[in-house]
Amino acid sequence: MSASRLNQVVTGLLPDTKKAPSWGLFCVFILLLLAQVALAVEKPPAAAIASAHPLATQAGHEILAAGGNAFDAAVTVSAVLAVVEPYSSGMGGGGFWLLHRAKDGFETMLDGRERAPLAAHQDLYLDDQGEVIPNLSINGALAAGIPGQPAALVHLAEKYGQLPLKQTLAAAIRLAREGFPVDDYYRRMVKWRLDALRQSPSAESLFLQSGEIPQVGHNVRQPDLANTLELLAEQGRDGFYKGKVAQKLIDGVRANGGIWTLEDLADYQPIERVPVRGSYRGISITSAAPPSSGGVMLLAMLNILSRFELEAYPVVTRKHLMIEAMRRAYRDRAEYLGDPDFVDMPIEQLIHPLYAAGLARDIALGHATPSKAPYSTVQSDEGRDTTHFSILDKEGNRVAATLSINYPFGSGFVPEGTGILLNDEMDDFSARPGVPNVYGLIGGEANAIEPGKRMLSSMTPTFIETAEGVAIMGTPGGSRIITMLLHGILELQAGGEPKDWVNKPRFHHQYLPDEVQFEPGALTADEVTELTRLGHQLKPLKRSYGNMQAVYWNKKTEAVSAASDPRGIGNAVVH
Ligand code: GLY
Repeated sequence: MSASRLNQVVTGLLPDTKKAPSWGLFCVFILLLLAQVALAVEKPPAAAIASAHPLATQAGHEILAAGGNAFDAAVTVSAVLAVVEPYSSGMGGGGFWLLHRAKDGFETMLDGRERAPLAAHQDLYLDDQGEVIPNLSINGALAAGIPGQPAALVHLAEKYGQLPLKQTLAAAIRLAREGFPVDDYYRRMVKWRLDALRQSPSAESLFLQSGEIPQVGHNVRQPDLANTLELLAEQGRDGFYKGKVAQKLIDGVRANGGIWTLEDLADYQPIERVPVRGSYRGISITSAAPPSSGGVMLLAMLNILSRFELEAYPVVTRKHLMIEAMRRAYRDRAEYLGDPDFVDMPIEQLIHPLYAAGLARDIALGHATPSKAPYSTVQSDEGRDTTHFSILDKEGNRVAATLSINYPFGSGFVPEGTGILLNDEMDDFSARPGVPNVYGLIGGEANAIEPGKRMLSSMTPTFIETAEGVAIMGTPGGSRIITMLLHGILELQAGGEPKDWVNKPRFHHQYLPDEVQFEPGALTADEVTELTRLGHQLKPLKRSYGNMQAVYWNKKTEAVSAASDPRGIGNAVVH
């Protein structure tokens, strides 16, 4: 209820002074006044956007300045990132948008995750001997799930936004048509996926320069993408999932070994899901629900850690405990989690403090618990795929969104005439139970391929409420996303600011491979010695990983701050 409507209600309830005062009415009056005060103070002094690209942050702020709310800005930022970060997310991919509506506190997770084509089946990526065919779920048309981002953006705009799509998609359309300049980050991502991009003539002509890695400053123009976005703006979801774009997508996919049909596109629906909620030492956490494993795993790790007085231990012991919590949560991920519309999952149990107490009981302070490896293991990659942004508007609406086309530049495949770079999210299924995917993650039957099923994700857009304020947090980074959120939340809990959450050097364990991957600076030499003595396998990484984007509204000091991970090229702006 708005403050002015509330005023009218309060005025109508004012006691008639000629009659004796009624205590009941008086109490209602006081309650309404208190509610009004609460509503009045629940507005931040500024808006903030942190995203992985300066052009996206800027476009989002322009939409806020034009009268849009956080949800309008989320449409704009998502669409601009789809254009200027083609290696991270896109209209050929999907994601999760965690929403908080200030006026009534309503929260939901918009699930725009890709789903398997209806012709998909468990053996899709296996040869005649039942072995996984390398790269078939990573490169090319067969690797792509049915995109969810276009439908999710239309849903977000129509149900929660205030501005028309023509306005919120305008910046992305302009940037697709006029182009954006290549930087070093873009070149690094292209280098990684050069071979895949060269397999697709449309992708090659869009993202390479004469078949090679483009020079810094080369202008990347995407006119077909601009046309597709224009159709989406004019026709809503039908502009993408029906008509000529849909037909071109199907023609391109099927001519290149894919199995999509028009029915796959027409059938696709974004779904609103109840977020996963829990608490850790007085802070409340609201995070991604399945088909993301993120929220469940985050709470599982925090629940385990809440069994220990972390501050009472030396720093190295705290790190040992974090590693052991990570190990246990990732073990359960592999066993239980998948698409909630296909699989019954013991979510209540997995995030229950008593279950965590049981898991914590067998953590030994004096040694590492070896992961049992009934599965083969592979080394995971650098974890620079995917993207995240966080938004707070001046009404207090919030969005945390993590979006992906999976591997850098997704499948590397663009159906001709669409400008749509397709995801390779099918690799997030377990191609065969027990065989690790590109991130080294294993999965079981719960995440096996089925027609129309959504593949399990690690994306973890999150809200954190403390006694003092509220944080909006998330990051890309494949399987390491969830442990990055753990680091960020522990840093927040220790009193840090957004810049501390995003800067913090990171380490990661995911049950299998049984190793602790760590960034430069995450462990001291003494800690490496001690953790090795405890039995941990330590794997120093040459490069950093992740790209966290965070916003914080401190309600006590009435200050808004934001930070963009220095590992990326993004920026955070408070206005
Ligand atoms: N494709 C990365 C994830 O969804 O976890």
